[in-house]
Amino acid sequence: MLKQSKRSNIPTFLALEGLVKARALEADGADIIHLEIGQPSSAAPAMVTQALIEAVGENDTHGYSVSLGVPELRDAIADHYKRSYDYDCGRGDVAVTVGSSTAFALSFMAAFDVGDKVALPTPGYPAYRNLMMAMGIEPVALPARSSEGWMPSLAEMDSWDELPDGLIIASPHNPTGVVLSDEELKEICDWCEARGVRLISDEIYHGLSYGKPTSTAAHHSKSAIIISGFSKYFSMTGWRLGWMLMPEDLAGPIQQLTENLYISAPTPNQMGAIKAFEAHDELNENIKRYEANRQILLEGLLPEFLGDYAPCDGAFYLYADISAISDDSLQLADELLHQAGVAVTSGVDFDVAQGHKHLRLSFAGSTSDMHEAVTRINRFVVEKCHLKSTA
Ligand SMILES: Cc1ncc(COP(=O)(O)O)c(C=O)c1O
Repeated sequence: MLKQSKRSNIPTFLALEGLVKARALEADGADIIHLEIGQPSSAAPAMVTQALIEAVGENDTHGYSVSLGVPELRDAIADHYKRSYDYDCGRGDVAVTVGSSTAFALSFMAAFDVGDKVALPTPGYPAYRNLMMAMGIEPVALPARSSEGWMPSLAEMDSWDELPDGLIIASPHNPTGVVLSDEELKEICDWCEARGVRLISDEIYHGLSYGKPTSTAAHHSKSAIIISGFSKYFSMTGWRLGWMLMPEDLAGPIQQLTENLYISAPTPNQMGAIKAFEAHDELNENIKRYEANRQILLEGLLPEFLGDYAPCDGAFYLYADISAISDDSLQLADELLHQAGVAVTSGVDFDVAQGHKHLRLSFAGSTSDMHEAVTRINRFVVEKCHLKSTA
C-alpha cells in the first residue's frame, strides 16, 4: 500500500456529489430537476462572450497573463468598486483568481499557519471548512441559529477560551440567504480589527438580493480580505474567474503564492471578463428570474416541507427545515432524487451537527423548472406523509 496524505482525508462536498449522482441517473434516461447546485442556468453575458471571441481571434490570449491578472481586468474590477460601492481602490489592490475558490486557498495560505483556528458561521459553505482541514488549519464552528435570525454571534466568540485567528463571513450567505446590513458588517469588521482577528469577507453573492442592499467589508476594514467573483451574479460559473481585494500586508505573499500555485488565471477568459461590468442590463434580467423563482418555491411548497425556513433575502438558495417530515436530510435528499426526480442538497453539507434537519434548494435555474419542482416535491411530501393533497 503506498502512502496517502492524511490531509486529503476530508469530507465530501455533497452538493457536487449530488450533481454526479443526478447526472448518472440522467445518463440512464431519468428526467431530473436540478436544485442541488448553485449555478445560474443563464449564459454568460453576450458582450463578454463576444470580447473573448475577439481576443482569441486577435491571438492576444495564448500566453500566461501576469500572475495577479490582466491589468485591464484589474482596472475594471477596481472601477466596479468605485461605481457600485463608492469605494476607492486601484489595480494594485486586486488579484484575479481561478474562481473565488482559489482566492480562499490563497488567503488561507497567506494569512494562517498550521494549527491556527478560524471561526466559520455554521451552517456555511463546506469548502471553507474542508480546505482548511486539508491545510492543517482548524475550522471552529460558530453556530448561526434560526432563533437568532441565523446571525453569527460576536458575543459568543468573546465567550470562548481562545479567540480565533480568523473569521470568515459571507453576505449574502450560502445556504441561509442572510444579508448583513452595512451596520452589522461594520460591527463585525470593528470586532475583528479590535482583536487582531483576520476577517475574510466572501462577497461572491453580491448583486443577488431581494430588497436588501449588499455592502462591502472593504469600507470598514483595511486588514480584511475581500473575495468575490464572476460565478454567480455575472453568470460565468464555468469561466472559473474570481478576484480578491488584498490587504496591503498580504499583497506580496498572495502574489508569490499565486505564481507558484497556478501562475495565472486563464487569459482568454480574463479578456472576456473585462466587459462583464458593462452587462448590467442583461444580468439584471436574471435577478428578475431569481426573484420569481424564489416566490414560486416559497408560495408553492407545502408548509410541512418549508418548515422554519431561513430568510432567503439574498443569493439563490432556500434552506428548508424538513424536520416535520424527516430527521435525516441525507436520506430525504436521496428519496427526492430517486422517487421524485428532484436533486437537492442535504443540510449536512453545511452543518455537520444540525444539517440533518435541513435541505438546500437552489433557485438559480429556469422558472419552468421551479414550477415542476414544486409539483414533484409536493406530490412526494403528500405521499410520504399521507397528507391530503392540496393540489
Ligand atoms: C459561499 C460561496 N463562496 C464561494 C463559492 C465558490 O465559487 P467560485 O469558485 O465558482 O467563484 C461558492 C460556490 O458555490 C459559494 O457558495
